[in-house]
Amino acid sequence: MRILSGIQPSGEIHLGNYIGALRHWVASQEELESFYLLADLHAITVTQDPKALRERTLSTAAVLLAIGVDPARSALFLQSHVGEHAELAWILNCLTSFSELQRMTQFKDKANREGTTTLGLFAYPVLQAADILLYQADHVPVGEDQKQHLELTRNLASRFNTRFGATFKIPQAAIAPAGARIMDLQDPSKKMSKSGASPDGAIWLTDTPDAIRKKIRGAVTDSGSEVKASSRKPAVTNLLTIYSILSNKSVHESEQEFAGAGYARFKDALAETLIAYLQPIQNRFRDVASDRGEIVRVLHRGAEKARAIAAHTLDAVKQSIGFLPR
Ligand code: TRP
Repeated sequence: MRILSGIQPSGEIHLGNYIGALRHWVASQEELESFYLLADLHAITVTQDPKALRERTLSTAAVLLAIGVDPARSALFLQSHVGEHAELAWILNCLTSFSELQRMTQFKDKANREGTTTLGLFAYPVLQAADILLYQADHVPVGEDQKQHLELTRNLASRFNTRFGATFKIPQAAIAPAGARIMDLQDPSKKMSKSGASPDGAIWLTDTPDAIRKKIRGAVTDSGSEVKASSRKPAVTNLLTIYSILSNKSVHESEQEFAGAGYARFKDALAETLIAYLQPIQNRFRDVASDRGEIVRVLHRGAEKARAIAAHTLDAVKQSIGFLPR
């Protein structure tokens, strides 16, 4: 069994990314052959400053290593280091209809935000399909926001197979049921994100203890005072989800732990749990980030492992569609 996933090199990673997807990367590599890519080709679908992109790519790699992605077990690499991604994306572009890309909700959101739209942003989901299909991945652990892109990937794979003969494995999205969606601390109707309306809505994995205390204390709550998960209490439910995942308890156990405690005591406990959980990650991050040469070496080794598989798939694809051998 093989898994593949990716993340954009945005530099900072928030708790929603971690709980929704990244902690599963770490868990999966114990049993499965794992490929994890930093999607720098995807990053340039919106405007990037070159120096900032370089810095963010290094620090995203450092965070991934700090949370426990282990280069001895997994291939951790940059999308731009494996040329096969762009090449397969082109081929898949020629199988993708305009109208199916126009239906992609993430494209519509980003196009609205950016003002002008590039062909690259439009074709973003096709590149993502290439990322996945190159490795013949069985499972793709992603957050819920990537569901539509995974559906497109599956459709493109079966379209290709139908037209040209069995070439691609049809991948499954692996969306974790509990905590797949961590919401914004200031607006629990929106998911936690880099671009939330309030800077206090997201917890970064590198936040200091003081920042964490301030954000958790200031998190919005619902009317009433009971620490209980319910659809009428979206804010408290979100905090309980975070607490229960990080402390390895069920939501029900967590509710019992804070029965009659009130919001303030629950928030204090949540803040301290978060701080303790993140401390070893932050220590490792400082270590890893201080040796850029080593990060680059890890990424190069990862790309080598990845390329071996990607090149094999791309050769089969080219043969299937009728290109002459090189
Ligand atoms: N689009 C994904 C995101 O923004 C990142 C990504 C790129 C990805 N390539 C991938 C995720 C391949 C899964 C598989 O989160």
